[in-house]
Amino acid sequence: MSKEIETQHNFNRSDNEPFSSVLARHVSRRDIMRGGLSLAALGMLSGIGGLNLANAQENGARKTPLALAFESLRGSRTDAVVVPEGYTAQVLIPWGTPLDEQGPAWHRKQEMTAEAQAHCVGMHHDGMHAFPLSEQHASRDFLLALNNEYIDQDALWAPRGGPTNPDSGQRPPDEVRTEINAHGVTIVRVRKQEDGSWLHVVGDAHNRRFTSATPMDLAGPVAGSDYVRTRYSPDGTRTRGTNNNCANGFTPWGTYLTCEENWPEVFVNRGELNIDDRRLGLPTDRGRYGWETAAGDADERDDEFARFDVTPRGNGPRDDYRNETRTFGYVVEVDPYDGQSRAVKRTALGRFRHEGCWPGKVVPGEPLVFYSGHDSRNEYIYKFVSAKHWDPAHASRPGATEDRLALGDRYLDEGTLYVARFNADGSGEWLPLEPSTLLADGRTLAQALSLAEGDRAGIIVHTCDAADLLGATPMDRPEWGTVDPVSGEVYMTLTNNSQRTSAHSEPTYTNGGDAIDASGVGYATAPTDAANPRADNESGQILRWRERGDDATRFDWEVFVFGAAADDTTNLSGLTERNQFASPDGLWYDARDDGQGILWIETDNGYDGVAEQTNDQVLAVVPGALSHDSGQASVVGAGNQQQLKRFAVGPNGCEVTGIFATPDKTALFINIQHPGNWPADPDAATQDATHATADSVRPRAATVVIQKDDGGQVGV
Ligand code: FEO
Ligand code: CA
Ligand code: CA
Ligand code: CA
Repeated sequence: MSKEIETQHNFNRSDNEPFSSVLARHVSRRDIMRGGLSLAALGMLSGIGGLNLANAQENGARKTPLALAFESLRGSRTDAVVVPEGYTAQVLIPWGTPLDEQGPAWHRKQEMTAEAQAHCVGMHHDGMHAFPLSEQHASRDFLLALNNEYIDQDALWAPRGGPTNPDSGQRPPDEVRTEINAHGVTIVRVRKQEDGSWLHVVGDAHNRRFTSATPMDLAGPVAGSDYVRTRYSPDGTRTRGTNNNCANGFTPWGTYLTCEENWPEVFVNRGELNIDDRRLGLPTDRGRYGWETAAGDADERDDEFARFDVTPRGNGPRDDYRNETRTFGYVVEVDPYDGQSRAVKRTALGRFRHEGCWPGKVVPGEPLVFYSGHDSRNEYIYKFVSAKHWDPAHASRPGATEDRLALGDRYLDEGTLYVARFNADGSGEWLPLEPSTLLADGRTLAQALSLAEGDRAGIIVHTCDAADLLGATPMDRPEWGTVDPVSGEVYMTLTNNSQRTSAHSEPTYTNGGDAIDASGVGYATAPTDAANPRADNESGQILRWRERGDDATRFDWEVFVFGAAADDTTNLSGLTERNQFASPDGLWYDARDDGQGILWIETDNGYDGVAEQTNDQVLAVVPGALSHDSGQASVVGAGNQQQLKRFAVGPNGCEVTGIFATPDKTALFINIQHPGNWPADPDAATQDATHATADSVRPRAATVVIQKDDGGQVGV
């Protein structure tokens, strides 16, 4: 997400414990070890050495320790992708690429229409995942599921000199429909050719788009409740569209999870805001793109534009769209294998600005776990634990015909949603968002939120407010997570936080600090704490945690690495010119042999200290090869810089996001989002991503495939 659409507001107004006091209670690692924590906690806090031991015990003897076999790149600020020597980078499926015969062939002056956009790759690629069609060809022929997070109106409407009435006045219906269709999800089959290059398969039966207008189902606690009845769906079981799909996830049964992040801004409410709409930051004047202004046009069908204005107008929810926003803010499940299936919003996983949703370690006979973060300043980290235990007979079988969404019903609609509290001593707690959870003052969570006892739908609709009341830790904007599938350790990026103040300051609240009985309260600013220890945090950090054995409510955490410019006084991980980075965002644990793996880090940086040296980038680190230097503020420190390397740099203006490698590890797929002047050839679909643009082009977000010239595994 670019700063163009990220929320600049802070909607958390809670009066949770100020972390000035938590910090005061912070004890050093040495003190913790003297105190005799559990073996698991010790392993965690003594750093990677302890974790290595655990992995080695699980996996038997090691062969060769994994090492990154490329030279860390210098910074780059060009209109080109840069990769290490011996690698190629190819552009694949840029915005506007036709998916079938109804999609027009792209050319630089193409006038996009709603119909054309519905048959072409959407805009601003973000999270993505691969779904193989067979075990045998899993690394060369698969379905790519891809989020199209938001739009660049200037690029979209370049042939007509820009959008019509972007900031005031009525938007033309055809432009609104086109913009709606440029958002959402693209499913497209891609295939490796004999010469090693990649193409997409035009007209494959799996190819399809989900847009911000596609009919979808609601499932889980909120489905069918009074909270989501609308004129479109009087029984509250359906909605239209998914929006601002940022990061993603996947399930062990072979479905894609796409997550709704900065969706509140496409709506507007000119009346009195609900508590939850206020908390999530709904506009009160005009939606981000003014889609609601096309309402009432003679050409409007089924309130397709009116639904973006959620101001109550009728006698009740069935007469208008006052509840439309409560059908957004979810994790959405898609079955990429079934080209006819509907998308399902899984409300049990909470309602907020979801960055993404990542499965924890999958263990037969145990509940499934999914981690998720709310990407706004001083918001929270969550996990969902399924009520049903995992049956390995349900594991995805490429090519098999089965009702995968019925498995989604089984594992994703019932369970417990928790929010995280990070204690200063390196321990953490998962706090259950159950209606019956007791607060310190003796009330239940339902009572404190003025909900009926047992109103699970109400808790989900008010997820953030419920989390406030439980005393969750406000974080520095949680972005991507990823899980080491062997050890189960979880990594999560905290990208930055301009509203983090010094340890000595008092928190501030959007409501001015008054206690609110009927809702949560939320931070406007929060003082530094152990997990978010830098004031005015411009460069972000990555946390790592491990669940504590059989207790679903306890974990142990540490800071893995701090972003910084090399010459910053707050360069707590000792970064150098060759690996300085800021605003970590995308993250992927790439499991290799022997329980080892590479942690890939992608950036979405707006911090000048680093931006003046390099564009956004992809870094690699082998956690298992690091040794924790006691006394260091983070696992990556001054003594192990050679283990954190810059692998790729994106073109000017972009962020780098979305990431996975093929199962054989010979191709790394990334996305270049909102480039300023790239790719170099304005007409070609596939092309060399490393060619620098000569003049000025209509920019197109695209997937980039990075491969080694010798066909070997990427990174090693
Ligand atoms: Fe869409 Fe949090 O980035
Ligand atoms: Ca970001
Ligand atoms: Ca950005
Ligand atoms: Ca992001």
